[in-house]
Amino acid sequence: MNSTASYPNLYSGLIERYRARLPVVPDTRIITLSEGNTPLIPLDNVARATGRDVKIFAKFEGLNPTGSFKDRGMTMAVTQAVGGGSRAIICASTGNTSASAAAYAARAGIRCFVLIPEGKIALGKLAQAMIEGSVVIQIKGNFDDGMRIVKDMADAAPVAIVNSINPYRLQGQKTAAFEIVDALDRAPDYHCIPVGNAGNISAYWVGFSEYAGIRPKTAACGFCTDTCAYPFPAVVPTRPVMVGYQAAGAAPFIAGHPIEFPETIATAIRIGNPQSWDLAWAAVRESDGWFDSLSDDEILTAQRLLAETEGVFCEPASAIAVAGLLRDIDRGKIPDGSLITCTLTGHGLKDPDTAIKQSPGSVLEVPANSDAVKRAILDNL
Ligand code: F0G
Repeated sequence: MNSTASYPNLYSGLIERYRARLPVVPDTRIITLSEGNTPLIPLDNVARATGRDVKIFAKFEGLNPTGSFKDRGMTMAVTQAVGGGSRAIICASTGNTSASAAAYAARAGIRCFVLIPEGKIALGKLAQAMIEGSVVIQIKGNFDDGMRIVKDMADAAPVAIVNSINPYRLQGQKTAAFEIVDALDRAPDYHCIPVGNAGNISAYWVGFSEYAGIRPKTAACGFCTDTCAYPFPAVVPTRPVMVGYQAAGAAPFIAGHPIEFPETIATAIRIGNPQSWDLAWAAVRESDGWFDSLSDDEILTAQRLLAETEGVFCEPASAIAVAGLLRDIDRGKIPDGSLITCTLTGHGLKDPDTAIKQSPGSVLEVPANSDAVKRAILDNL
């Protein structure tokens, strides 16, 4: 018997919560770590600092079980892979997908292979993939190289691909949009989100669209046909404007074409050839939204601002959502009176090196006596 059956009040993951809107059947064996149900945190201090009349919320996806939004897609992808008889999964990753894939594979008792770019993955993510028992394959190339190789493996080896080209991933990830609407009792006016491989912005658009009772024109979820079996009640009549932000050195949506050598301190989104290119463009076009890019300095400034003024510690790639939002409020692209949600995709603890490097001098070294500590306190009150 399912171990959660005796505890009806126990939250048991997003598939259970949104089962009617997900491609599962009653006897599906669900592989879950109780992901989802992440907080929507008001960023009142950040909003006040803009000097404008805006309401800002952060969907803090860093509070998922492996510390990023990837768990939403991975519970679906691994559930489907196991149900289909797969004994192994594979992904290319800038770090978070590998950490999540490794965790869900461990839970399911199957093998996990992860391809990571040499030297460009945050330490916490590498630690996760390693301790969770995946086979870590480091390639002398970047994420896009890894993605190309993983696609080759579809025919070459008995492994299920769990990158976001797997449509079950987007199905799981769309639930974050459901949670936002459920929490606010309405859709936000604007939704700001980092864009790398572009699966997440596509998934949110599917989610917001479903809740608005609107079938995305692009049939983006890979399951929506005219005879789609999943329910589309008109719960909320509106959808947000979707705004996607990329790092300046890795901004193919701004360039309008793939970037061969992407570079950014936000290693999670160091991607030059996004796989969900068309879906992400559709989300932005259908919502009258836009893409924009930010420098590494702007990204790190927003990361520090969130940590220092809100106590929210997210990784650099996540902070880009707030960096972009603040600039767009300042430029008047996002008007007064707006209700805005931002996805903070991953936890700051994933990448302690970057956090420590940008906090120089914040550790005081003093002798081990009360006088010295007292002085340190009085000097810094
Ligand atoms: N933020 C974080 C923290 C990420 O890890 C990623 C993607 C993104 C944003 C961008 O999301 O790809 O759906 O547009 N990380 C992938 C990985 C590529 O391998 O972990 P996207």
